[in-house]
Amino acid sequence: DVTRDFAFGLPKAELHLHLEGTLEPDLKLALARKNGVDIGQSTVEEVQATYQFNDLTSFLAVYYPAMDVLQDEDDFHDLAAAYFERARANGVVRAECFFDPQAHTSRGIAIETVIRGYHRAVVEAREAGLSADLILCFLRDMSAQSALETLQAALPYKDMFIGVGLDSDERDNPPTKFADVFALARQTGLHVTMHCDIDQVGSIDNIRAALTELGTERLDHGTNIVEDPELVAYARDHGIGLTSCPLSNSFVTEEMKGKEIVELTAAGVKVSVNSDDPAYFGGYVGDNYLALAERFDLGRADLERIARNSIEIAWISDDEKDELL
Ligand code: ADE
Ligand code: ZN
Repeated sequence: DVTRDFAFGLPKAELHLHLEGTLEPDLKLALARKNGVDIGQSTVEEVQATYQFNDLTSFLAVYYPAMDVLQDEDDFHDLAAAYFERARANGVVRAECFFDPQAHTSRGIAIETVIRGYHRAVVEAREAGLSADLILCFLRDMSAQSALETLQAALPYKDMFIGVGLDSDERDNPPTKFADVFALARQTGLHVTMHCDIDQVGSIDNIRAALTELGTERLDHGTNIVEDPELVAYARDHGIGLTSCPLSNSFVTEEMKGKEIVELTAAGVKVSVNSDDPAYFGGYVGDNYLALAERFDLGRADLERIARNSIEIAWISDDEKDELL
């Protein structure tokens, strides 16, 4: 019997979390007022009423325009600081947070404003005892050239992020489109992960390429790897972690992928549970653990396994893993 206290209290790593996806309606409204940005709504209820998604595309259509309220370094700092506070209340002891520089540089915000603001919150989180780092994501519906320019622009701040990822709309934007930029990132010593979403035609081929050609260390979502036993064995044997997001999946694919999580875990693949865009998908990581347990009848030992997996696949030293476990 998994209680809310148990699900929230388990020490866990959150590895699939978009900082821009933690923008709660009240902060969105406060920043809109502060920065004089008209977002078209003026109450929390009105903002929430615009949250009608049934797939990734309809979600992204709400998600990106909202970022207009983020303007100066303090705004990015305040967004991340609010997340870290909630993360701690959800039992997070290690947070590896995605951010999307191109969603900001494309509207005229300097990349250093974004990175410095987020990084300041990371430093404060560490001072408060939460291990935290940033992962720079490329928007896959922009060009490979834009991704390359983004990485080059970010390299002067390389000590402020530990890896690169790939997000946004996967349709017609396979990971192989970014082979050069991922190769450069790996040469630079950065970790590499990528979204392989579960509802895309041809997604299994993208998972195969991500693993065998692009050297990804984790798969974000990616639970449809169950379709291919050889790839499941590959993921198990190479210690490839999966970062699944049950509540997000239930919005964009209509199910939490609990069966896949259970099956993959039983097969020895390290699957973690995460919140993705918690301000939009109805809950933070503790809520995701709890919802998964309730919907799929998981017990305490199952959630303990998932939480342990999350720390084992985190991008930290073995010594730090031992400390956190
Ligand atoms: N950007 C933010 N959340 C995302 C998700 N779940 N998939 C793709 N891109 C995203
Ligand atoms: Zn995501």
